[in-house]
This record gives sequence, structure tokens and C-alpha cells, in this order.
Amino acid sequence: MDDFFIDGGLPLRGTAVVNGSKNAALPILIATLLTDEPCVISNVPRLRDIRTTLRLLETLGKKVSVSGHTVRISAAGALKTTAPYDIVKQMRASVLVAGPLLARFGRVRVALPGGCAIGLRPIDIHLQGLRAMGARKSAEGGDVVLRARSLRPAKVRLRFASVGATENLMMAAAGTPGVTTIENAAREPEIEDLGVFLRSLGAGVTGAGTSRIRVEGVPLLRGARHRVIPDRIETGTLLIAAAAAGGTVFLRGADAGQLTALLGALRKAGARVRAGAAGIRISSQGRPRAVSIQTRPHPGFPTDLQAPWMAYMTLGRGSCRIREDIFERRFIHAAELGRMGARIDVRGRTAAVTGVPALEGAGVMASDIRAGAALVVAGLAARGRTYVQRVYHIDRGYERLERTLRRLGARIRRVRAP
Ligand code: UD1
Repeated sequence: MDDFFIDGGLPLRGTAVVNGSKNAALPILIATLLTDEPCVISNVPRLRDIRTTLRLLETLGKKVSVSGHTVRISAAGALKTTAPYDIVKQMRASVLVAGPLLARFGRVRVALPGGCAIGLRPIDIHLQGLRAMGARKSAEGGDVVLRARSLRPAKVRLRFASVGATENLMMAAAGTPGVTTIENAAREPEIEDLGVFLRSLGAGVTGAGTSRIRVEGVPLLRGARHRVIPDRIETGTLLIAAAAAGGTVFLRGADAGQLTALLGALRKAGARVRAGAAGIRISSQGRPRAVSIQTRPHPGFPTDLQAPWMAYMTLGRGSCRIREDIFERRFIHAAELGRMGARIDVRGRTAAVTGVPALEGAGVMASDIRAGAALVVAGLAARGRTYVQRVYHIDRGYERLERTLRRLGARIRRVRAP
């Protein structure tokens, strides 16, 4: 288990290149289950969750080879239809295999993912959609088993715009002949990217990125090549880190169109942000103005940037409110930030943050990917040394975050804990 040591208080300066999106790559890799032909996916970040996904694909019978940021996936005989608990418990997104496997084989067995640090995270919306397409559900020893002689196209309206449920249904629909429509669909850029990939596989997909997606499925999909979009959450985390630590950073390849809510909040806080075709530049100095945010489905403020934003706002001039509307208990980082001198009062889904002039380095513990990123942001801005434990959470979502930050002048190093 690795830890980070951060000697804070240094501004960030220089250029970093944004990696491919984890949350776009995961469903795209899983969508290769829809075809037996080879697929080549590039700009795939090298992350723990990606390795878990590739292991899941191999367990299901795919042949996988990785070279740098490019993954080749091909058939290696018949596919299996069971996603085992030891993989699902490591990564909830494993449940996305349900849609494509059900469409192809009329049967899938997926271990139930259970809750996690940030919320209960049921999969009822995924199941509701698949049932509308004709799947029957039963429970067996902690697993969900879904069966359908053949899935049928349907008109599905989601009770909430769940990202995962939208992706699962798009994949199920792509392999089911006929037209399926998904209403109240999630509109995240990662869904748009999945739509582009499903189109390259031969399905007809329109409206991905809007709240009404139309998928015209075909029985046999072909192989394809695809380049994954840049990671807006990594981009956002680095922008917030630069704002909190001060300095000037250029993020090459970052797509400002995916981050309007964050860029607006950064500007309100006093950072100078310039977005162009090549990337995003941010300059910042001194304490920010306190800016309240509320997490929302895209294009609202992303829940995955709530924790880093809170870390930044602990230094705000004045106080602000941070409301978490996507997950029930995504404030575990507040207590850790408190160890560094932050003043945060959590009541239910709202955290009131009163800015302090400076944070002090301390020993803190990451509890999930983005909470971990928030502690790194705080450590970069703090006086003295911060020691972040359980970096494996951060490694699930950020490719060598310490190396990127070191290139920007941060003093951060990874140490293997005894
Ligand atoms: C995805 C992202 C995650 C991000 C989240 C919200 C991936 C791999 N992960 O997660 O980083 O934080 O979107 O932007 O892309 N819900 C239900 N029933 C369901 C499904 C979801 O009640 O069947 C609830 C969840 O418990 C949660 C909320 O809906 O409170 C949002 O979940 P969802 O949009 O599905 O997020 P994920 O796809 O799990």
C-alpha cells in the first residue's frame, strides 16, 4: 500500500497533458462484448479500474493485449456470462456487462455490487430498464440473474438520469434488433463517447448526450477502432489544484466544453481561466472568493469534483455551502480536511465551509477516489507536510497523479508504506 508525502505551499507551473477518460473507457471496453470481431481502443488511461475491467473481460473469455495506452480486444472462443463477486466488489462498473451479455446470450449473472463509501448505490434503474426490454430477474446467492429468450426493443423512461443505467441500456439496445428509446437519459460526455463507439460497431445511435437517446440495434455488430475522450474529472482536479496552490498551468488536450460549470465556479472564485482549442490555461494567486456549489447531473457541477472543490474552498475568503445531490454520503473527506485545520460543518447533504487563511499539513486518509484527490489538493495548498494514506483509492482514477504534479513543480512523492 502506497502513501503520498506532500510538502505544500509551492505554486504549480507548467504544462500537463490530460489522460483519456476513465469513465468513458470503462463502458467502451465493456461494449466490445457486443462483437466477436477485434476492437482497438486508444487513449485508455493506465489505472487500476481499467486493469480490473480488462481482467473482467478476460474472465468472460476475451483476449486482451495492452500496449501503452492502446488496448486490443478480440474473441478467444465462446464468452461466459457470469461476472464474479471478486471482480464486481472491486469495481461497481462491472455491472455494465449485464446489458451487452443479455442482448447477445439471453442470460447474464452478475454479483450484486453492494454499497460503497459514498452511498448505497443500488442498481434498480439498470434492472428496471432491462426488465422493460423483456428480461426476467431472479436472485441467486448474492447474484442477480437476468434471462430473456431474446430482448425486445422498448421505450424506457429512467426515474433518475443514472449514468451507469443509461450506458447499460444503450449497450443492451445496440445488440437488440429494433428501435429502443431511453428517456430522461444521463447526458454526461462519457455517454456521448459510448454512443460514438456503438455507432462504429454498427448500431444506429442518435441523441447520446441529450436526455432522449434513440438506439437502433442490430443482431451482429462489427469490430471498430476508437479513441477515448479526455478525462474531464482529471482535468478538473488539476485545475482546482492549480487554483488552490496558486501559479499558472496549461492543460493540453483538456476540453472546456465538458466543464462549463466548474470553469464558471473557478472564475467566480477569482481564478483566471482561458480555454482554447488546444487546452485550458489557469492562473491563480492568493485566497479564493468563497463560491457555493451544488452537484447535479451533467451539465451541472460534477459530483466527482465536489471533494476537490471543498478542499479549495477551505481557504476561501468568507463562507460557502456545498450541496451534494447525487450521492447520499459523499462528505467523508470533510473530517480529514478538518485534521488540516479546515472549518466544515456537515448537515445531511450540505456542508457549510468557512474559509481559513491557511491549512496545516497533517496525516490524512483517502476513502475513495475523489476524496483522495481532495486531500492531495489540500496538501499542495497547505503549509508543511501532508501524508496521504491509502493512495490505492487515488490510483483507481488518476494515472500517476504524483508524476503529473511533480512535472508542475509540486513536491510530492510516493512511498511504499511498511
Ligand atoms: C458514474 C461515474 C461516477 C460518477 C457518477 C455520477 C462511472 C464508472 N462512474 O457512476 O464517477 O460519480 O456517474 O456522475 O462512470 N442510482 C440508483 N439506482 C440505480 C443507479 C443509480 O438509485 O440503478 C443512484 C446512485 O445510488 C447515485 C445516483 O443514482 O446516488 C447516481 O448514480 P449513477 O449516475 O448511476 O452513477 P454511476 O454510473 O454509478
